[in-house]
Amino acid sequence: MGITRTQVAIIGAGPAGLLLAHQLHQIGIESVIVESRTREEIEGTIRAGVLEQGTVDLMNRLGVGDRMMKEGHFHEGFELRFNGKGHRINAHELTQGKYITVYAQHEVIKDLVAARLRQGGTIHFNVGDVSLHDVDGSSPKIRFRPDKDGELQEIHCDFIAGCDGFHGPSRPAIPQSIRTEYQKLYPFGWLGILTEAPPSALELIYANHDRGFALLSTRSPQIQRLYLQVDAKDDIANWSDDRIWSELHTRLETREGFNLIEGPIFQKGIVSMRSFVCDPMQYGRLFLAGDAAHIVPPTGAKGLNLAAADTQFLVRGLEAYYKQGRPDLLERYTEVCLRRVWKAERFSMFMTNLLHRNFDHSPFERQIQLAELDYVTSSRAASVSLAENYVGLPMQYD
Ligand code: FAD
Ligand code: DHB
Repeated sequence: MGITRTQVAIIGAGPAGLLLAHQLHQIGIESVIVESRTREEIEGTIRAGVLEQGTVDLMNRLGVGDRMMKEGHFHEGFELRFNGKGHRINAHELTQGKYITVYAQHEVIKDLVAARLRQGGTIHFNVGDVSLHDVDGSSPKIRFRPDKDGELQEIHCDFIAGCDGFHGPSRPAIPQSIRTEYQKLYPFGWLGILTEAPPSALELIYANHDRGFALLSTRSPQIQRLYLQVDAKDDIANWSDDRIWSELHTRLETREGFNLIEGPIFQKGIVSMRSFVCDPMQYGRLFLAGDAAHIVPPTGAKGLNLAAADTQFLVRGLEAYYKQGRPDLLERYTEVCLRRVWKAERFSMFMTNLLHRNFDHSPFERQIQLAELDYVTSSRAASVSLAENYVGLPMQYD
Protein backbone atom coordinates (compact mmCIF):
# COMPACT_ATOMS: atom_id res chain seq x y z
CA MET A 1 0.00 0.00 0.00
CA GLY A 2 1.41 3.42 -1.00
CA ILE A 3 1.63 5.88 1.90
CA THR A 4 1.89 9.67 1.59
CA ARG A 5 1.62 12.47 4.13
CA THR A 6 -0.03 15.85 4.28
CA GLN A 7 -1.23 18.25 6.95
CA VAL A 8 -4.94 18.30 6.06
CA ALA A 9 -6.57 15.50 4.03
CA ILE A 10 -9.75 16.76 2.39
CA ILE A 11 -12.51 14.39 1.25
CA GLY A 12 -14.59 15.92 -1.57
CA ALA A 13 -13.89 18.52 -4.27
CA GLY A 14 -17.15 20.43 -3.95
CA PRO A 15 -17.25 24.10 -2.98
CA ALA A 16 -16.32 23.25 0.64
CA GLY A 17 -13.28 21.08 -0.15
CA LEU A 18 -11.90 23.34 -2.86
CA LEU A 19 -12.39 26.60 -0.95
CA LEU A 20 -10.72 25.00 2.07
CA ALA A 21 -7.70 23.87 0.04
CA HIS A 22 -7.26 27.38 -1.40
CA GLN A 23 -7.46 29.12 1.96
CA LEU A 24 -5.00 26.68 3.52
CA HIS A 25 -2.60 27.20 0.62
CA GLN A 26 -2.79 30.95 1.16
CA ILE A 27 -1.54 30.57 4.75
CA GLY A 28 1.06 27.92 3.94
CA ILE A 29 -0.76 24.80 5.17
CA GLU A 30 -0.54 21.72 2.92
CA SER A 31 -3.56 19.72 1.87
CA VAL A 32 -4.57 16.94 -0.51
CA ILE A 33 -8.08 16.39 -1.91
CA VAL A 34 -9.62 13.01 -2.80
CA GLU A 35 -12.79 13.14 -4.92
CA SER A 36 -14.94 10.17 -5.97
CA ARG A 37 -16.14 11.73 -9.26
CA THR A 38 -14.18 12.72 -12.36
CA ARG A 39 -13.18 16.31 -13.05
CA GLU A 40 -15.69 16.40 -15.96
CA GLU A 41 -18.48 15.23 -13.66
CA ILE A 42 -17.89 17.79 -10.90
CA GLU A 43 -17.49 20.58 -13.46
CA GLY A 44 -20.72 19.58 -15.22
CA THR A 45 -23.11 19.16 -12.26
CA ILE A 46 -25.76 21.88 -12.30
CA ARG A 47 -26.67 23.13 -8.84
CA ALA A 48 -26.56 26.50 -7.09
CA GLY A 49 -26.60 29.94 -8.61
CA VAL A 50 -26.66 32.61 -5.92
CA LEU A 51 -23.54 33.74 -4.06
CA GLU A 52 -23.66 35.85 -0.93
CA GLN A 53 -21.48 38.93 -0.75
CA GLY A 54 -19.21 37.11 1.74
CA THR A 55 -18.64 34.22 -0.69
CA VAL A 56 -17.83 36.64 -3.52
CA ASP A 57 -15.40 38.49 -1.23
CA LEU A 58 -13.74 35.17 -0.29
CA MET A 59 -13.29 34.19 -3.96
CA ASN A 60 -11.69 37.56 -4.65
CA ARG A 61 -9.40 37.36 -1.59
CA LEU A 62 -8.23 33.96 -2.86
CA GLY A 63 -7.44 35.43 -6.28
CA VAL A 64 -9.95 33.15 -8.04
CA GLY A 65 -12.69 35.70 -8.68
CA ASP A 66 -11.68 37.21 -12.04
CA ARG A 67 -14.12 35.29 -14.25
CA MET A 68 -16.89 35.60 -11.65
CA MET A 69 -16.46 39.39 -11.64
CA LYS A 70 -16.59 39.45 -15.46
CA GLU A 71 -19.34 36.92 -16.15
CA GLY A 72 -21.41 36.97 -12.92
CA HIS A 73 -24.58 39.03 -12.64
CA PHE A 74 -24.71 41.52 -9.79
CA HIS A 75 -28.26 42.20 -8.65
CA GLU A 76 -29.37 44.92 -6.24
CA GLY A 77 -32.69 43.28 -5.48
CA PHE A 78 -35.15 40.50 -6.21
CA GLU A 79 -38.91 40.19 -6.57
CA LEU A 80 -41.55 38.37 -4.53
CA ARG A 81 -44.61 37.79 -6.73
CA PHE A 82 -48.04 36.82 -5.35
CA ASN A 83 -51.69 37.55 -6.10
CA GLY A 84 -50.58 38.38 -9.66
CA LYS A 85 -48.39 41.30 -8.58
CA GLY A 86 -44.62 41.76 -8.13
CA HIS A 87 -43.02 43.39 -5.05
CA ARG A 88 -39.35 44.31 -5.26
CA ILE A 89 -37.03 43.86 -2.29
CA ASN A 90 -34.25 46.39 -2.76
CA ALA A 91 -31.63 44.33 -0.93
CA HIS A 92 -28.78 46.69 -1.86
CA GLU A 93 -30.41 49.67 -0.22
CA LEU A 94 -31.80 47.70 2.74
CA THR A 95 -28.37 46.20 3.58
CA GLN A 96 -26.20 49.29 3.03
CA GLY A 97 -24.69 48.29 -0.26
CA LYS A 98 -24.53 44.48 -0.49
CA TYR A 99 -25.09 42.66 -3.79
CA ILE A 100 -26.64 39.36 -4.80
CA THR A 101 -24.35 37.62 -7.28
CA VAL A 102 -25.66 35.06 -9.75
CA TYR A 103 -22.79 32.83 -10.93
CA ALA A 104 -23.30 29.10 -11.38
CA GLN A 105 -21.81 26.67 -8.87
CA HIS A 106 -20.15 24.61 -11.62
CA GLU A 107 -18.39 27.75 -12.86
CA VAL A 108 -17.12 28.33 -9.30
CA ILE A 109 -15.91 24.71 -9.30
CA LYS A 110 -14.13 25.14 -12.66
CA ASP A 111 -12.37 28.28 -11.42
CA LEU A 112 -11.31 26.65 -8.13
CA VAL A 113 -10.06 23.41 -9.73
CA ALA A 114 -8.08 25.20 -12.45
CA ALA A 115 -6.43 27.56 -9.96
CA ARG A 116 -5.63 24.75 -7.51
CA LEU A 117 -3.97 22.65 -10.21
CA ARG A 118 -2.05 25.71 -11.47
CA GLN A 119 -0.67 26.16 -7.93
CA GLY A 120 0.58 22.57 -8.02
CA GLY A 121 -2.08 21.35 -5.56
CA THR A 122 -3.07 17.68 -5.52
CA ILE A 123 -6.61 16.57 -6.33
CA HIS A 124 -7.10 12.82 -6.80
CA PHE A 125 -10.23 12.56 -8.99
CA ASN A 126 -12.30 9.44 -9.61
CA VAL A 127 -11.13 7.60 -6.49
CA GLY A 128 -12.96 4.62 -4.96
CA ASP A 129 -13.45 3.00 -1.55
CA VAL A 130 -12.62 6.11 0.53
CA SER A 131 -12.45 5.27 4.24
CA LEU A 132 -11.42 7.18 7.37
CA HIS A 133 -9.18 5.70 10.10
CA ASP A 134 -7.97 6.72 13.58
CA VAL A 135 -9.95 9.96 13.53
CA ASP A 136 -9.88 10.07 17.33
CA GLY A 137 -6.10 9.59 17.54
CA SER A 138 -3.25 12.03 16.83
CA SER A 139 -2.46 10.63 13.38
CA PRO A 140 -5.64 10.09 11.36
CA LYS A 141 -5.56 8.47 7.92
CA ILE A 142 -7.70 8.13 4.86
CA ARG A 143 -7.55 5.24 2.40
CA PHE A 144 -8.73 5.21 -1.20
CA ARG A 145 -8.28 3.43 -4.53
CA PRO A 146 -7.00 5.60 -7.39
CA ASP A 147 -9.22 5.32 -10.49
CA LYS A 148 -11.71 3.24 -8.47
CA ASP A 149 -9.85 -0.10 -8.73
CA GLY A 150 -6.12 0.69 -8.31
CA GLU A 151 -4.02 -0.48 -5.34
CA LEU A 152 -5.12 1.01 -1.98
CA GLN A 153 -3.34 4.26 -1.06
CA GLU A 154 -3.12 5.76 2.42
CA ILE A 155 -2.74 9.43 3.33
CA HIS A 156 -1.46 10.13 6.84
CA CYS A 157 -2.38 13.60 8.11
CA ASP A 158 -2.90 15.84 11.12
CA PHE A 159 -6.56 16.53 10.35
CA ILE A 160 -9.30 15.22 8.07
CA ALA A 161 -11.79 17.65 6.55
CA GLY A 162 -15.02 15.85 5.64
CA CYS A 163 -16.29 17.93 2.72
CA ASP A 164 -17.99 15.03 0.98
CA GLY A 165 -21.59 16.23 0.86
CA PHE A 166 -24.67 14.67 2.39
CA HIS A 167 -24.00 11.07 1.29
CA GLY A 168 -20.23 10.87 1.90
CA PRO A 169 -18.44 8.63 4.44
CA SER A 170 -17.25 11.40 6.80
CA ARG A 171 -20.36 12.08 8.88
CA PRO A 172 -20.91 8.36 9.64
CA ALA A 173 -17.30 8.28 10.97
CA ILE A 174 -18.58 10.24 13.98
CA PRO A 175 -19.93 7.56 16.34
CA GLN A 176 -23.71 7.49 16.31
CA SER A 177 -23.79 7.62 20.11
CA ILE A 178 -22.41 11.18 20.15
CA ARG A 179 -24.15 12.44 17.01
CA THR A 180 -27.52 14.21 17.10
CA GLU A 181 -29.15 14.61 13.70
CA TYR A 182 -31.97 17.12 13.36
CA GLN A 183 -34.07 16.70 10.25
CA LYS A 184 -37.18 17.99 8.50
CA LEU A 185 -38.45 16.67 5.16
CA TYR A 186 -40.76 18.70 2.92
CA PRO A 187 -43.65 17.30 0.88
CA PHE A 188 -42.39 19.08 -2.25
CA GLY A 189 -39.37 19.09 -4.54
CA TRP A 190 -37.95 21.45 -7.18
CA LEU A 191 -38.04 20.72 -10.86
CA GLY A 192 -35.16 22.75 -12.35
CA ILE A 193 -34.53 23.53 -16.01
CA LEU A 194 -31.91 25.28 -18.08
CA THR A 195 -33.22 26.87 -21.25
CA GLU A 196 -31.57 28.58 -24.16
CA ALA A 197 -33.36 31.92 -23.96
CA PRO A 198 -32.38 35.44 -22.92
CA PRO A 199 -33.40 36.64 -19.42
CA SER A 200 -37.13 37.35 -19.03
CA ALA A 201 -36.37 39.75 -16.15
CA LEU A 202 -33.40 41.73 -14.87
CA GLU A 203 -33.57 40.18 -11.37
CA LEU A 204 -34.69 36.91 -9.72
CA ILE A 205 -38.43 36.38 -9.27
CA TYR A 206 -39.77 34.14 -6.47
CA ALA A 207 -43.48 33.49 -7.16
CA ASN A 208 -46.12 32.09 -4.83
CA HIS A 209 -49.11 31.02 -6.95
CA ASP A 210 -52.23 29.04 -6.07
CA ARG A 211 -50.78 26.15 -8.11
CA GLY A 212 -47.39 26.29 -6.34
CA PHE A 213 -44.03 28.03 -6.26
CA ALA A 214 -41.98 29.08 -9.30
CA LEU A 215 -38.56 30.75 -9.52
CA LEU A 216 -37.06 32.62 -12.44
CA SER A 217 -33.27 32.89 -12.31
CA THR A 218 -30.56 33.43 -14.85
CA ARG A 219 -27.17 32.11 -15.93
CA SER A 220 -25.98 34.19 -18.87
CA PRO A 221 -27.33 36.55 -21.57
CA GLN A 222 -28.31 33.39 -23.50
CA ILE A 223 -29.40 31.02 -20.71
CA GLN A 224 -32.18 31.11 -18.10
CA ARG A 225 -32.55 28.89 -15.03
CA LEU A 226 -36.09 28.21 -13.81
CA TYR A 227 -37.63 26.10 -11.06
CA LEU A 228 -41.12 24.77 -10.31
CA GLN A 229 -42.48 23.31 -7.09
CA VAL A 230 -43.54 19.72 -7.77
CA ASP A 231 -44.56 16.82 -5.55
CA ALA A 232 -41.57 15.33 -3.71
CA LYS A 233 -42.26 11.93 -5.29
CA ASP A 234 -42.89 13.24 -8.81
CA ASP A 235 -40.97 11.78 -11.74
CA ILE A 236 -39.32 13.98 -14.36
CA ALA A 237 -40.80 11.63 -17.02
CA ASN A 238 -44.20 13.15 -16.15
CA TRP A 239 -43.00 16.59 -17.25
CA SER A 240 -42.92 17.22 -20.99
CA ASP A 241 -41.39 20.52 -22.09
CA ASP A 242 -44.88 21.77 -23.00
CA ARG A 243 -46.20 20.99 -19.54
CA ILE A 244 -43.23 22.74 -17.89
CA TRP A 245 -43.71 25.91 -19.96
CA SER A 246 -47.47 25.94 -19.44
CA GLU A 247 -47.01 25.68 -15.66
CA LEU A 248 -44.26 28.33 -15.60
CA HIS A 249 -46.44 30.75 -17.61
CA THR A 250 -49.37 30.24 -15.23
CA ARG A 251 -47.37 30.60 -12.03
CA LEU A 252 -45.34 33.63 -13.15
CA GLU A 253 -48.28 35.51 -14.73
CA THR A 254 -49.11 38.99 -13.44
CA ARG A 255 -52.23 41.10 -13.74
CA GLU A 256 -50.44 43.51 -16.09
CA GLY A 257 -49.07 40.57 -18.11
CA PHE A 258 -45.58 39.04 -17.96
CA ASN A 259 -43.52 38.05 -20.94
CA LEU A 260 -41.77 34.77 -20.07
CA ILE A 261 -39.32 34.09 -22.88
CA GLU A 262 -39.22 30.44 -23.94
CA GLY A 263 -36.37 28.52 -25.54
CA PRO A 264 -35.22 24.93 -25.97
CA ILE A 265 -34.85 23.12 -22.61
CA PHE A 266 -31.45 21.40 -22.54
CA GLN A 267 -31.30 20.20 -18.92
CA LYS A 268 -34.02 19.20 -16.45
CA GLY A 269 -34.25 17.31 -13.16
CA ILE A 270 -36.05 17.10 -9.82
CA VAL A 271 -34.40 17.53 -6.42
CA SER A 272 -35.99 16.73 -3.07
CA MET A 273 -35.91 19.20 -0.20
CA ARG A 274 -34.81 18.74 3.37
CA SER A 275 -33.50 20.63 6.37
CA PHE A 276 -30.79 18.74 8.24
CA VAL A 277 -28.18 19.52 10.92
CA CYS A 278 -25.57 17.24 12.45
CA ASP A 279 -24.29 18.20 15.91
CA PRO A 280 -21.34 18.01 16.56
CA MET A 281 -19.54 18.92 13.33
CA GLN A 282 -16.25 17.71 14.78
CA TYR A 283 -15.01 14.47 16.32
CA GLY A 284 -11.37 14.00 17.30
CA ARG A 285 -9.38 15.21 14.30
CA LEU A 286 -12.28 15.02 11.85
CA PHE A 287 -14.05 18.27 10.91
CA LEU A 288 -17.18 18.29 8.74
CA ALA A 289 -17.88 21.25 6.44
CA GLY A 290 -20.77 22.08 4.09
CA ASP A 291 -23.49 19.61 3.09
CA ALA A 292 -21.68 16.81 4.99
CA ALA A 293 -22.87 18.52 8.17
CA HIS A 294 -26.04 20.37 7.17
CA ILE A 295 -28.60 20.70 4.39
CA VAL A 296 -31.00 23.54 3.71
CA PRO A 297 -33.92 23.57 1.27
CA PRO A 298 -32.73 25.66 -1.72
CA THR A 299 -35.32 28.47 -1.40
CA GLY A 300 -33.00 30.75 0.57
CA ALA A 301 -30.00 30.03 -1.72
CA LYS A 302 -27.82 29.26 1.30
CA GLY A 303 -26.18 25.81 0.85
CA LEU A 304 -23.01 26.71 -1.01
CA ASN A 305 -22.66 29.88 1.02
CA LEU A 306 -22.86 27.97 4.31
CA ALA A 307 -20.19 25.59 3.01
CA ALA A 308 -17.96 28.61 2.28
CA ALA A 309 -18.57 30.03 5.78
CA ASP A 310 -17.72 26.72 7.53
CA THR A 311 -14.39 26.58 5.73
CA GLN A 312 -13.51 30.09 6.90
CA PHE A 313 -14.17 29.12 10.53
CA LEU A 314 -12.11 25.96 10.07
CA VAL A 315 -9.18 27.79 8.49
CA ARG A 316 -9.13 30.26 11.35
CA GLY A 317 -8.93 27.33 13.80
CA LEU A 318 -6.22 25.53 11.84
CA GLU A 319 -4.19 28.71 11.49
CA ALA A 320 -4.28 29.31 15.27
CA TYR A 321 -3.30 25.65 15.83
CA TYR A 322 -0.34 25.60 13.43
CA LYS A 323 0.93 29.16 13.86
CA GLN A 324 0.34 29.76 17.57
CA GLY A 325 -0.04 26.23 18.96
CA ARG A 326 -3.56 27.13 20.10
CA PRO A 327 -6.17 24.32 19.83
CA ASP A 328 -8.97 26.39 21.44
CA LEU A 329 -10.48 27.73 18.21
CA LEU A 330 -10.64 24.24 16.69
CA GLU A 331 -12.31 23.03 19.87
CA ARG A 332 -15.01 25.67 19.37
CA TYR A 333 -15.55 24.81 15.68
CA THR A 334 -18.97 23.16 16.14
CA GLU A 335 -20.26 25.93 18.38
CA VAL A 336 -19.15 28.76 16.09
CA CYS A 337 -20.38 27.11 12.87
CA LEU A 338 -23.71 25.95 14.22
CA ARG A 339 -24.54 29.40 15.55
CA ARG A 340 -24.58 30.65 11.94
CA VAL A 341 -25.92 27.40 10.45
CA TRP A 342 -29.05 27.41 12.62
CA LYS A 343 -29.85 30.97 11.54
CA ALA A 344 -29.51 29.95 7.88
CA GLU A 345 -31.68 26.89 8.59
CA ARG A 346 -34.27 29.18 10.13
CA PHE A 347 -34.22 31.54 7.14
CA SER A 348 -34.31 28.73 4.56
CA MET A 349 -37.31 27.14 6.26
CA PHE A 350 -39.00 30.53 6.53
CA MET A 351 -38.51 31.23 2.80
CA THR A 352 -39.68 27.71 1.92
CA ASN A 353 -42.84 28.01 4.02
CA LEU A 354 -43.48 31.54 2.76
CA LEU A 355 -43.23 30.71 -0.93
CA HIS A 356 -44.46 27.14 -1.46
CA ARG A 357 -48.08 26.02 -1.57
CA ASN A 358 -48.72 23.46 1.13
CA PHE A 359 -51.74 21.64 -0.25
CA ASP A 360 -52.55 20.25 3.22
CA HIS A 361 -53.09 23.79 4.47
CA SER A 362 -56.59 24.95 5.36
CA PRO A 363 -58.00 28.08 3.64
CA PHE A 364 -57.19 29.89 6.91
CA GLU A 365 -53.50 28.90 6.76
CA ARG A 366 -53.33 29.96 3.10
CA GLN A 367 -54.64 33.42 4.05
CA ILE A 368 -52.02 33.65 6.83
CA GLN A 369 -49.31 32.85 4.26
CA LEU A 370 -50.56 35.60 1.93
CA ALA A 371 -50.71 38.02 4.88
CA GLU A 372 -47.10 37.17 5.68
CA LEU A 373 -46.07 37.89 2.07
CA ASP A 374 -47.95 41.20 2.22
CA TYR A 375 -46.20 42.00 5.52
CA VAL A 376 -42.63 41.25 4.43
CA THR A 377 -43.09 43.29 1.25
CA SER A 378 -44.81 46.28 2.86
CA SER A 379 -43.07 46.67 6.24
CA ARG A 380 -39.59 48.17 6.09
CA ALA A 381 -38.57 46.34 9.28
CA ALA A 382 -39.62 42.98 7.79
CA SER A 383 -37.99 43.78 4.42
CA VAL A 384 -34.71 44.64 6.15
CA SER A 385 -34.79 41.32 7.99
CA LEU A 386 -35.49 39.42 4.76
CA ALA A 387 -32.79 41.30 2.84
CA GLU A 388 -30.05 40.95 5.49
CA ASN A 389 -30.59 37.21 5.67
CA TYR A 390 -30.75 36.82 1.89
CA VAL A 391 -27.48 38.66 1.20
CA GLY A 392 -25.88 36.70 4.06
CA LEU A 393 -25.46 37.24 7.79
CA PRO A 394 -22.04 38.38 9.00
CA MET A 395 -19.47 35.84 10.19
CA GLN A 396 -19.42 35.95 14.02
CA TYR A 397 -16.22 34.44 15.36
CA ASP A 398 -17.05 34.76 19.05
P1 FAD B 1 -20.99 18.99 -2.52
O1 FAD B 1 -21.15 20.07 -3.52
O2 FAD B 1 -22.04 17.94 -2.46
O3 FAD B 1 -19.57 18.35 -2.72
C1 FAD B 1 -19.19 17.14 -2.12
C2 FAD B 1 -18.17 16.42 -2.98
O4 FAD B 1 -17.75 15.26 -2.31
C3 FAD B 1 -18.77 15.99 -4.31
O5 FAD B 1 -17.98 16.43 -5.38
C4 FAD B 1 -18.82 14.48 -4.20
O6 FAD B 1 -18.61 13.83 -5.44
C5 FAD B 1 -17.67 14.20 -3.22
N1 FAD B 1 -17.81 12.93 -2.53
C6 FAD B 1 -18.93 12.33 -2.09
N2 FAD B 1 -18.65 11.13 -1.56
C7 FAD B 1 -17.31 10.98 -1.65
C8 FAD B 1 -16.42 9.94 -1.28
N3 FAD B 1 -16.86 8.80 -0.73
N4 FAD B 1 -15.12 10.11 -1.52
C9 FAD B 1 -14.65 11.25 -2.10
N5 FAD B 1 -15.45 12.25 -2.48
C10 FAD B 1 -16.77 12.12 -2.26
N6 FAD B 1 -26.61 26.87 -2.53
C11 FAD B 1 -26.40 28.20 -2.55
O7 FAD B 1 -25.60 28.70 -1.75
N7 FAD B 1 -27.04 29.05 -3.42
C12 FAD B 1 -27.96 28.57 -4.31
O8 FAD B 1 -28.48 29.33 -5.12
C13 FAD B 1 -28.25 27.16 -4.29
N8 FAD B 1 -29.14 26.64 -5.14
C14 FAD B 1 -29.28 25.27 -5.22
C15 FAD B 1 -30.15 24.77 -6.15
C16 FAD B 1 -30.31 23.39 -6.25
C17 FAD B 1 -31.28 22.84 -7.27
C18 FAD B 1 -29.56 22.51 -5.41
C19 FAD B 1 -29.70 21.01 -5.53
C20 FAD B 1 -28.69 23.02 -4.47
C21 FAD B 1 -28.55 24.40 -4.36
N9 FAD B 1 -27.67 24.96 -3.42
C22 FAD B 1 -27.51 26.33 -3.37
C23 FAD B 1 -26.93 24.10 -2.48
C24 FAD B 1 -25.49 23.82 -2.92
O9 FAD B 1 -25.48 23.29 -4.23
C25 FAD B 1 -24.81 22.86 -1.93
O10 FAD B 1 -25.10 23.27 -0.62
C26 FAD B 1 -23.29 22.81 -2.14
O11 FAD B 1 -22.98 22.04 -3.29
C27 FAD B 1 -22.57 22.20 -0.92
O12 FAD B 1 -21.19 22.09 -1.19
P2 FAD B 1 -20.32 20.96 -0.51
O13 FAD B 1 -18.94 21.17 -1.02
O14 FAD B 1 -20.56 20.94 0.94
O15 FAD B 1 -20.92 19.60 -1.04
C1 DHB C 1 -30.99 29.71 -7.83
C2 DHB C 1 -31.07 28.73 -6.86
C3 DHB C 1 -31.71 29.02 -5.68
O1 DHB C 1 -31.79 28.08 -4.72
C4 DHB C 1 -32.25 30.26 -5.43
O2 DHB C 1 -32.88 30.50 -4.26
C5 DHB C 1 -32.15 31.23 -6.39
C6 DHB C 1 -31.50 30.95 -7.60
C7 DHB C 1 -30.30 29.39 -9.11
O3 DHB C 1 -29.93 28.23 -9.29
O4 DHB C 1 -30.15 30.29 -9.93
